[in-house]
Amino acid sequence: MKLIIDTDPGIDDALAIAYAALHPDIELLGLTTVFGNVTTAQATRNALYLSELMGLSIPVAAGAVKPMKLPPFAPKTRVHGPEGLGDLPAPSPFAKAHDMTAAQFLCDMAALYPGELVVCPIGPITNIADALKMDPAFAQNVDKIVFMGGALDVRGNVTPYAEANAFHDPHALDAVLSSGANVTMVGLDVTLQVLLNDQDFTDLANKKNGIGVFLKDLGRFYLDFYQSIGLNGCGLHDPMAVIAALYPALFKMETLSIEVKLEGEESGQTCRSQSKERPTCRVSLDCDAHALRSEFFKVFDN
Ligand code: RIB
Ligand code: CA
Repeated sequence: MKLIIDTDPGIDDALAIAYAALHPDIELLGLTTVFGNVTTAQATRNALYLSELMGLSIPVAAGAVKPMKLPPFAPKTRVHGPEGLGDLPAPSPFAKAHDMTAAQFLCDMAALYPGELVVCPIGPITNIADALKMDPAFAQNVDKIVFMGGALDVRGNVTPYAEANAFHDPHALDAVLSSGANVTMVGLDVTLQVLLNDQDFTDLANKKNGIGVFLKDLGRFYLDFYQSIGLNGCGLHDPMAVIAALYPALFKMETLSIEVKLEGEESGQTCRSQSKERPTCRVSLDCDAHALRSEFFKVFDN
């Protein structure tokens, strides 16, 4: 599977990138970066650093620095850390960002591999909305867009209504969901069914692949935040979007029209649309949590 991950790394983003880098059936063609857990500049720097750490030599293309219509916002550093990688100080990767913008890179790669390229947005989906605006053929060229975001029948995690990625750019998500592209939603309805705990991160550090030691420290920071809000584990949010792209059979999905609230207290809420004109997408409503958990950990034995 030819894949581009659009990311705001971010601790669970790092887990998703590691999973993709290690999976034998994934050809990770590049990373595109976006604001969200961190600023876009930090996301780009972190993506370059994570690529080098994982032995990847792939383009990292910097993307949007603010939401489509909402004003820019300051990242909440208590969730992913001041530099986005837990307690880690600002890393200094050797490589530089790609000379294209994220949207241009996405459009070019989708045109280069028509019907083959899979895109996994795991931050605010602004870059994908920009690519759809930039190239009308993008929606048809891309095989599928499998994004981490939204919360349909469960509470949000930023407000009672909205999941973080949807909350941070509801207009972009609305544009992607109404584009007619082949879109799959992997939201909190399923990602909160797989929680990683302290023992999981200890096990990760003991895996054959040394990256687990690095991820354990990040995971512990992320876990502290979740425990501070009363959850005894951190959601496997971003890796589940990549796993859903590879193994959709591990999810119970329905074909629904989804709309996004764009203003007020419920801004960022994703809900079923009654409109007959609105395109549909695949929505993950349930999952085989046990199989997903073992699928995630399996690659670290490679
Ligand atoms: O709600 C979880 C999502 O928001 C994840 O993508 C996490 O990295 C944050 O971006
Ligand atoms: Ca993310």
